[in-house]
Amino acid sequence: MKVIKVLNEKEVGKVAGDLILSAIQSNSSSILGLATGSTPESTYEYLIEDFKKNKTDWSKVKTFNLDEYVGLSPDHKKSYRYFMNDKLFHKINIDIKNTHVPDGLKIENPEDYDKLISKNGGIDLQLLGIGTNGHIGFNEPGTSFDSLTSVVDLTAETIEVNSRFFESALEVPKKAVSMGLTSIMNARKIVLIAIGKNKAEAIKQLINGNISINWPCTILQNHKDVTVIIDEEAASLI
Ligand code: PGA
Repeated sequence: MKVIKVLNEKEVGKVAGDLILSAIQSNSSSILGLATGSTPESTYEYLIEDFKKNKTDWSKVKTFNLDEYVGLSPDHKKSYRYFMNDKLFHKINIDIKNTHVPDGLKIENPEDYDKLISKNGGIDLQLLGIGTNGHIGFNEPGTSFDSLTSVVDLTAETIEVNSRFFESALEVPKKAVSMGLTSIMNARKIVLIAIGKNKAEAIKQLINGNISINWPCTILQNHKDVTVIIDEEAASLI
């Protein structure tokens, strides 16, 4: 696992963004796995700036997002599909038909998402955030390492942490569709980003903890190509 410590959020976005851009430069038809939440915002801002300045061509890139809330339609303002359109897809020249986010309203056969990813050749680079409890995607503590895309229950901690995006914790959906831990491990390259003191314990477990389903992120110790990009506060316990 390669660990890159940087000064602040903007630098996290630059370093992660440059890794994504170099994947696109080496293969214009790259398959990217993308993440939502606060952490990737500086990365997406950097990619949009790059698009304005350098006209990086996203027209053949395909993307697969990690997760979506169950019950929120793609045009719901709190859905992750809406977030991705707003924060990235509508601001670069990606073909929206090449972008995929699990559908929070059609949850009958979630593993079809893994089949679609593999039919497209598998993920070249997966961008990940991390939860304060060590979740990646919405794979909460206790999730089997064998998991594929499925409908999952969110923990009380995740609902509380994510309530900042909603009017109140009561409005946060209790379930999500999430790529599983095996879905994530199937990516050829993984880039995990974390910002802030509240992520320091999860980062410590990710890097130095015993591999255990109690800290889902620790499965990444078994992956051969992981880059962790963290600011000083997220790095404060390592
Ligand atoms: P955050 O979420 O980027 O909003 O902190 C990360 C995560 O829960 O995976």
